[in-house]
Amino acid sequence: MSKFIINGGKKLVGEVNISGAKNATLGIIAAAIMTDEDVILDNIPDVEDVNIMLSAIEEMGGEVKRITRNKVHIFAKNANATMANAKNLSRIRASYYFVGALLSKKKQAVVRMPGGCSIGERPIDLHLKGFKSLGAECEVKDGFIIAKADKLTSDNIYIDIVSVGATINLILASVMAEGTTVLENVAKEPHVVDVANFLNSMGANVKGAGTDTIRIKGVPYLHGTTYTIIPDQIEAGTYMTIACATEGDIIIKNIIPKHLDSISAKLIDMGNNVVEYDEAIRVIGCERQFPTTIKTLPYPGFPTDMQPQITVLLSIANGESNVTESIFEDRFKYIVDLKKMGAQIEQRSTSLNIKGIEHLKPASLMSPDLRAGAALVIAALMTKGESTVDRIEYIKRGYENIFGKLKELGADIREEN
Ligand code: EPZ
Repeated sequence: MSKFIINGGKKLVGEVNISGAKNATLGIIAAAIMTDEDVILDNIPDVEDVNIMLSAIEEMGGEVKRITRNKVHIFAKNANATMANAKNLSRIRASYYFVGALLSKKKQAVVRMPGGCSIGERPIDLHLKGFKSLGAECEVKDGFIIAKADKLTSDNIYIDIVSVGATINLILASVMAEGTTVLENVAKEPHVVDVANFLNSMGANVKGAGTDTIRIKGVPYLHGTTYTIIPDQIEAGTYMTIACATEGDIIIKNIIPKHLDSISAKLIDMGNNVVEYDEAIRVIGCERQFPTTIKTLPYPGFPTDMQPQITVLLSIANGESNVTESIFEDRFKYIVDLKKMGAQIEQRSTSLNIKGIEHLKPASLMSPDLRAGAALVIAALMTKGESTVDRIEYIKRGYENIFGKLKELGADIREEN
């Protein structure tokens, strides 16, 4: 595993270009196998999770050609396999989107059980329950999800818990089902809307994405398309937090400001200056953060994927803050390392009480997962002295070229294997 060595305490200043949304790209790549025609995806992030999904399509017999680092041509007509069993698939969460896509296209699927960040139990019961409502038989056996259906017929499905993955997977499974499927209590994240827009660009009929109810009128066929992925709101939020944590001044480019509303609002509450432009946002960090209260919620609430990052920022605020994680039950693994740096944090079940201190102390840190790893990088950047962040492979799963982007902003950072 490689590590970053960071000499922190410097103000990060300059511009950073945000890459395409990882969690939109993962659902869209799975959806791309549902047509026998050409699909061109632009603005995809060059990150490991995306590359694993693309290589899985090749292992299923499809063609994947990189046009540029961020543009890919997928031709899945010969992806005849109904099995997605590439070993690496068990390392990522999004592998399960191949179940919805293969059920739609082939009426059968055998897909490795998903992996992904260890931030809680992460069951898939809502996915399987929804597939069954559409007429599929499903079981989990020997580490695989096995699903098949004579035909898929529409249904009204109320998803018990707001779930990004279940929402996207049930859209995938319904787009070519007979009749009109109604999904209620759906996730409204920008990446859910992007997958729906992508499918509609292929001739699907998905209405209401981004609201509480999505209506999918089944169509017999999906044609090819050329599609550009939306920017990654969590990558953007992470760099916004870096500007605040280092008292920096960063223009974050290629973003959709609306997607960042809950993050901008909190950073302004904490005393930072946030200026919105059409496709960019400028964040100027204040000298000392005000404390605040955070509760993670489904979109448009404060995103769980920003919880570790904002907690790091609150650890040096001028007062006492509270953070409640309401989405995942085990997303505080990074607190151990923050305490090594001197942070005054007390965990009570899924809530944190944080007594802000003037500054942290440098330390050797270890990424427990993707977003916590990014949060520990922020902690190192904002702390005078040399810190190391190990297991940065986790971070590279979701942040394209984070080393280069931080260097560009003036960070004193190097990488060692
Ligand atoms: C997606 O995970 C994202 N991953 C996560 O981002 C993100 O944290 C999460 O959505 C919430 O926004 C991808 O898109 C690849 P959920 P997902 O289903 O779909 C429970 C990152 O950092 N649940 O919305 O797995 C679940 O346990 C990653 O980029 C069930 O109970 O999340 C959780 O408590 C980390 N049964 C809640 O729903 C199910 O069948 C929300 O999970 C499915 C989910």
